[in-house]
Amino acid sequence: MEMNRRTVIAGAAAAGVAATALGGTAQAAQAKGGSQKPVKKLFGKLADGTSVHSWSLANGGTRMKVLSYGGIVQSLEIPDRRGRYANVSLGFATIEDYVAKSPYFGALIGRYGNRIDKGRFALDGKSHQLSVNDGANSLHGGAQGFDKRVWDVEPFTKGSDVGLYLYYTSVDGEMGYPGTLKAKVTYTLTAHGDWRVDYEATTDKATVVNLTSHVYWNLAGEGSGSVYDHELKIAASRYTPVDSGLIPTGELAAVAGTPFDFRRHKTVGEDIREAHQQLLYGQGFDHNWVLDKGITARPEQIATLEDPSSGRTLRIATTEPGLQFYSGNFLDGTFAGTGGRIYRQGDALCLETQHFPDSPNQPDFPSTVLRPGQVYRSTTVHSFN
Ligand code: BGC
Repeated sequence: MEMNRRTVIAGAAAAGVAATALGGTAQAAQAKGGSQKPVKKLFGKLADGTSVHSWSLANGGTRMKVLSYGGIVQSLEIPDRRGRYANVSLGFATIEDYVAKSPYFGALIGRYGNRIDKGRFALDGKSHQLSVNDGANSLHGGAQGFDKRVWDVEPFTKGSDVGLYLYYTSVDGEMGYPGTLKAKVTYTLTAHGDWRVDYEATTDKATVVNLTSHVYWNLAGEGSGSVYDHELKIAASRYTPVDSGLIPTGELAAVAGTPFDFRRHKTVGEDIREAHQQLLYGQGFDHNWVLDKGITARPEQIATLEDPSSGRTLRIATTEPGLQFYSGNFLDGTFAGTGGRIYRQGDALCLETQHFPDSPNQPDFPSTVLRPGQVYRSTTVHSFN
């Protein structure tokens, strides 16, 4: 009994929560599988005085901290094969760093994940010019995407699940997008320690939507060095090649016989230095894989990432038809992260479930159009070990 209590307090302290804040039931639950109801704390303030809060929650051995700013996963801790925890998601310790220099660390991305060619598209015969923030193109929703907005956050517990509802309303014309879009994202930590993300959105005018999450994974722990020795598997026989501005050409190319073949476990670094034109364009992997399963009503298993040194594993299941695998190519050693260590090229990778980049300009790609009366829905489940 006494030992259990000490374990509980040590666990709570490591998760950055006052042990005294836990009630008797929460303590008992945490002793079993690390369940902790969301606890809210002030994280910092934006320049205009707006408060940004952090929410700590835990379940089934997974612990996370989420910010109201950008719905950012500020840390995500999972155990290695010997039970030792590490934060496996790149981030920062302060709100100032997130505002000043974050390359979308851990953030929710919207209204449109990835690139739209020249930030332009036509819908129902009307052309729209979006905010352009990546050379000539629009990236991740434009200069002030959903990652830079303060979301309304509501905690919940449902059966053995704990989680957060995140709400953001993007007004008509924001960043050039037509229609008021009401987005609701649900982060759930299950009793198995899975992190499930459910996206929902509605609009009052026809628009385009492609929501995703931009966690930078390093299963050996953020700041621990390169992920080139991580093993990756992606259930995709094709990918969408890009031009020099990383806009898809429209072709769905076979991965067979190319560095893009991850149908069997392969280390991230194995082929990354091949002088393949596509790898030169991306300075590594920065492409959309066309998932063999296509769009599905329920999340299906599509990718596995494994760090042989720690034994930590991430499995991803999704309803989406695409996966952007980005090998952290533009991390360039110009800033330090949460633990005070410098992040360099290849120190993490992103696995962003999505519809394909530039779909609004690609009639042959699955449509990203959302109309009034319809509900946009997308689900991705991250399972560990
Ligand atoms: C894109 C990269 C981009 C990065 C921003 C990724 O989703 O594919 O091209 O540089 O986000 O950090």
